[in-house]
Amino acid sequence: MTDPHHNETTDAEPRSESAPVPLFSGLPAEVSIYEVGPRDGLQNETVILPTARKIEMIEGLVDAGIRRVEITSFVNPRWIPALADHMEVARQLQRREGVVYSALVPNMRGLDGATRAGMEEVAIFMAATETHNRKNINKSTAKAIETYKVVVKEALDRGIRVRGYVSCVYGCPYEGAVEVQKAIDVGRQLLDLGVYELSLGDTIGVGTPLQVAHVISSMLASGMTLDQLAVHFHDTRGTALANITVALQLGVRTVDSAAGGLGGCPYAPGASGNVATEDVVYMLQGMGSKTGVELDKLVSISDRLSGHLGKELPSKYLKAHLGHCARQGRPI
Ligand code: HMG
Ligand code: MG
Repeated sequence: MTDPHHNETTDAEPRSESAPVPLFSGLPAEVSIYEVGPRDGLQNETVILPTARKIEMIEGLVDAGIRRVEITSFVNPRWIPALADHMEVARQLQRREGVVYSALVPNMRGLDGATRAGMEEVAIFMAATETHNRKNINKSTAKAIETYKVVVKEALDRGIRVRGYVSCVYGCPYEGAVEVQKAIDVGRQLLDLGVYELSLGDTIGVGTPLQVAHVISSMLASGMTLDQLAVHFHDTRGTALANITVALQLGVRTVDSAAGGLGGCPYAPGASGNVATEDVVYMLQGMGSKTGVELDKLVSISDRLSGHLGKELPSKYLKAHLGHCARQGRPI
């Protein structure tokens, strides 16, 4: 049987249906993609990419149209060996005008490293749950807030913008179900410290669209604003794109994703890849939302990464594109 939606000649250019459908009337004209591949994507990989390859990846992503990218983590290399070259990556990378480069920092030592490396934005990170905080950053929730209070103040004094992550919003690998109020409490404290945006992490990919609607509307009801919220889904159970659609419908405009669908927190058992940037970009193009990202360039980066890492990557769009190229007998 012929698939009416399948068109061999437009593989990389999804059609945007022009007739407005009331169900999707809230979808934004533009979405900001916050690319976490060089950080979240690589942090849990057993094959450690050489610094030059990481830089090539970041530059390729920027060349493909990415305008916000998390390049590494200034964390203890004993905890995250794959990003031990954070200083080299941040120092050697050629910055491009109009692109925001960010990096994770867990404490003042991380912020000092990021400052020496010339970072203009950093991200602090903690979970909504006590146990994940102890496992991931070796601190209680209260101690993490105390630490970040100093980090954010100092960063802002140095002219460095700070983003904030709240992990385990939809579920915790250690504590199970998480009450939305816990995520609100942590998120509110981070905003009060001075972070400009909160990325709400589904660290282990358990969230469903109904839960996303509940989380985002509860955050808004608590006084947070749409421009303060971003979504960060790991696609462990295949719900990430549906979850993103709901978040966008509710007015969120920033989506975290990783090229190829790489990613996962090593201190969250069962976590797997972030939603793939190319899958998000494909879906948004098809629904008429602009991201500024060129799919063809993006998939060629993911394809190269797959070769460097010696494994197939989870991205669905990448698989479809590779199949399409093979059938057409043309290069990627
Ligand atoms: P600690 O062991 O408690 O640190 O680790 P400490 O202060 O006791 O110091 C112990 C040693 O670590 C000392 O070295 C420090 O100098 C060193 P020594 O004297 O023993 O040689 N140290 C550092 N080294 C380099 N950079 C630093 C640093 N700080 C201390 N910044 C720490 C505490 C937070 C450092 C550690 O737990 C750590 O590095 N954790 C990072 C974990 C991580 O990166 N996890 C993945 C990211 S989170 C995530 O993926 C979720 C997210 O994607 C959102 C989502 O999906 O939901 C963001
Ligand atoms: Mg993550």
